[in-house]
Amino acid sequence: MNNFVEPIKIKISKQFKNRIKNGYLWIFSNEIDHKYMLKQISYVEVYDHKDNFLCKGVYNPHSLISVRVLSQKKDEKIDKEFFYKKLKTAVERRKKYGIDIMFCRIIYGESDFLPGVVIDRYGDIFVLQFFSYGMELFKNEIFESLIDIFNPKFIVMNNDIYQRELESAPKNKEIVYTKNKSTNESITIIQHLDTKFVVDVLNGQKTGFYYDQLENRKYISSIAKDKNVLDLCCYTGSFSILCALSGSKNVVGVDSSSYAIKLANENAKINNVKVEFINSKVEDFVKNNKTKFDLIIFDPPSYTKSDKDINPAKKKYEFMLSQIMKMLEDKGLLAFSVCSRHISLENMQEVIVSSMLKNQQKGFIIYYGGQSKDHPIYLPMRKETEYLKFVVCEVFN
Ligand SMILES: C[S@@+](CC[C@H](N)C(=O)[O-])C[C@H]1O[C@@H](n2cnc3c(N)ncnc32)[C@H](O)[C@@H]1O
Repeated sequence: MNNFVEPIKIKISKQFKNRIKNGYLWIFSNEIDHKYMLKQISYVEVYDHKDNFLCKGVYNPHSLISVRVLSQKKDEKIDKEFFYKKLKTAVERRKKYGIDIMFCRIIYGESDFLPGVVIDRYGDIFVLQFFSYGMELFKNEIFESLIDIFNPKFIVMNNDIYQRELESAPKNKEIVYTKNKSTNESITIIQHLDTKFVVDVLNGQKTGFYYDQLENRKYISSIAKDKNVLDLCCYTGSFSILCALSGSKNVVGVDSSSYAIKLANENAKINNVKVEFINSKVEDFVKNNKTKFDLIIFDPPSYTKSDKDINPAKKKYEFMLSQIMKMLEDKGLLAFSVCSRHISLENMQEVIVSSMLKNQQKGFIIYYGGQSKDHPIYLPMRKETEYLKFVVCEVFN
């Protein structure tokens, strides 16, 4: 986008209260005054029905979230400097809270006031995701700011995400910048909790690594000593490897992705630990397994795309958990993670209880966790920015 483009004026309808003043960063399609609806993605200035200025933002006519708010200051320019400052602020905030800014989520969308934009940093490699099609109007300004601040080697834009369907946006993955004109740098080694992990930013899942589990990995490491551990949906083996390094007796990791298992084995090798990684669906592993475990971690992918999926997802969790908990020793520990903003902590507790009941088991909750500090939960948009929940229970027969 060039600097000469002026924002287009739109208005919200009279009956809608202005939540923008309270910090809410979305305007829904039903809130826009019909006369002002646009046909294409645009940079806009939004006014109320009395013609009071509300905000500047990006507009997508194909999304239920019509406007994502960028600024509430009428005279603030949305230019490269604007994005440069947002990036700098996000880095400073992370430093303030002791986050390792070499290896973390640098921008977490709304929580860093860049709605719909995610940026993960893997040393000098950066991966961006545009959950908002509208924000792509400013992608060059964001790339240029990234390059100025971090002098990266390699930038990937991974927009191969289902949420893009809600924006009528194309799903694609591309290398948008390489310093050395080389494309073979997609595999790197990061430091995470003083441990090395191989990350493939082009062929891995999401942006390559799940930074959001950092605090929960710390907790699991603290209880893993001398235990027989089963890590279900282990991806590249982060929980498994940390357990092995913390003195677990035996560790087994299971994942349905053969590529994830390949990287998990590499991770075990570079950290000098022994873990048995199995390429299998959890459902098949459970059927064939004869061993009992002291600690089982279950971190499945999200089963929900919207609130409509809550009940089917609860049924699926219950089905899986009841079988998984049968593999626990008496007084064994279950660590259950849900990565969905649609499933509440209460939903999780209900599912755990009903699964226990099915097995005639009981238990205690011994730990609650959530997403790491580089994925801050923004208030007032808690429901939109909080997604990861993590519960550890002692389970007895
Ligand atoms: C949220 S990720 C797990 C992240 C991992 N625990 C970590 O900390 O890096 C979910 C994983 O579940 C795997 N998966 C999805 N469905 C599965 C299934 N039915 N059986 C086994 N693994 C599955 C995916 O390949 C993915 O690696």
